[in-house]
Amino acid sequence: MLILSIETSCDETACAVVRDGREVLSSVVASQIDIHAATGGVVPEVAAREHVLKIVPVIEEALAKAGVNWDQIEAIAVTRGPGLLSSLIIGYTAAATLAKVMGKPLIPVHHVAGHIYANWLDRVGEDVTDSAGKNIAKDDFPIVILTVSGGHNELVLMRKHAEFELLGETQDDAAGEAFDKIARLLGLGYPGGPAISKAAFKGNAEAFDFPRAMMKSGNLDFSFSGLKTAVLRVIEEEHTAKGQLSEKFIADVAASFQEAVVDVLSEKLLQAAREYQAKEVHLAGGVSANLRLREMVEQKIKKYKMEAKLHYCKNLHYCTDNAAMIGGAAYYLYSSNPAAFANSESLLPSPQLDLYQK
Ligand code: KG4
Ligand code: ZN
Repeated sequence: MLILSIETSCDETACAVVRDGREVLSSVVASQIDIHAATGGVVPEVAAREHVLKIVPVIEEALAKAGVNWDQIEAIAVTRGPGLLSSLIIGYTAAATLAKVMGKPLIPVHHVAGHIYANWLDRVGEDVTDSAGKNIAKDDFPIVILTVSGGHNELVLMRKHAEFELLGETQDDAAGEAFDKIARLLGLGYPGGPAISKAAFKGNAEAFDFPRAMMKSGNLDFSFSGLKTAVLRVIEEEHTAKGQLSEKFIADVAASFQEAVVDVLSEKLLQAAREYQAKEVHLAGGVSANLRLREMVEQKIKKYKMEAKLHYCKNLHYCTDNAAMIGGAAYYLYSSNPAAFANSESLLPSPQLDLYQK
């Protein structure tokens, strides 16, 4: 099934063409990072205006790069939410209009379902093997997924395709939001995640002993606001004592902060994987681009002598917001229950949307 998908939930205008949830024929992302870097974050009105300018060219480019025409497209998928309403509306209106005019099904997709299904992209056929020569294209349920970005921070269980159970979530900030905030305080700019991990390479991860909240809470929830406050205090003290932040101090804070976040995320993921006897563990969302997170999860799987296979997007393009992941999720959602989309024309975009509603 050939799906054209659109994603405009935040600050990227994206369109992709994906076959059967795995084969990406094209994935175009018009990023607004340079625009929002000037303000240190996304200004919704500015983002929406950019989407208006970019949406048609991005759709045309995705079709051209895929080398397909409208007759070959079998359905149109789009992010319905969560996200910034003024951004969602642009992509959603484009998708709903195209679906109506072309007489094709409209498949509205939850943004987090998209992030989760990014892990199936580019895994075509049954001949995909990992570095150890193990076949990784066959799906092995149950799967436990850690999905973390600027807006969400969750542990999800999948017992089969297109069904998601929430195991735990953040009680306050998402880890990506903490990365962005600390990067701003350290003067590293926007977006914070890549900037912190770059600075952290030169730092000492043991320089500061930052708190690992809820590590032993017994449940699968997270909290990052205490960590944010602890890092803020250390930065303020340094400002007061020295008047400025040295490169070494910035690198040490970045490395110690990253280590604390990644320690908690990986520990909780593997706790959930053990509890639910996961055959696969997945990393998803913008923060899954973090190399130290990937490395630590791999190390802990070995340390705890677990059998579960680890998946994350080798291609960093699919970790952060893109439309291919929406096309991937749409395929599995639609093929598992096409009737559920019979009246999707009556749906509207929604800034808050529940993925786990029964
Ligand atoms: O999924 P995404 O593109 O957008 C949302 O849905 O929010 O995720 C963006 C988030 C940002 O908070 C960004 O700082 C974080 O993902 N991020 C990272 C890295 N790359 C992006 N966080 C840590 N390490 C990275 N390498
Ligand atoms: Zn996202």
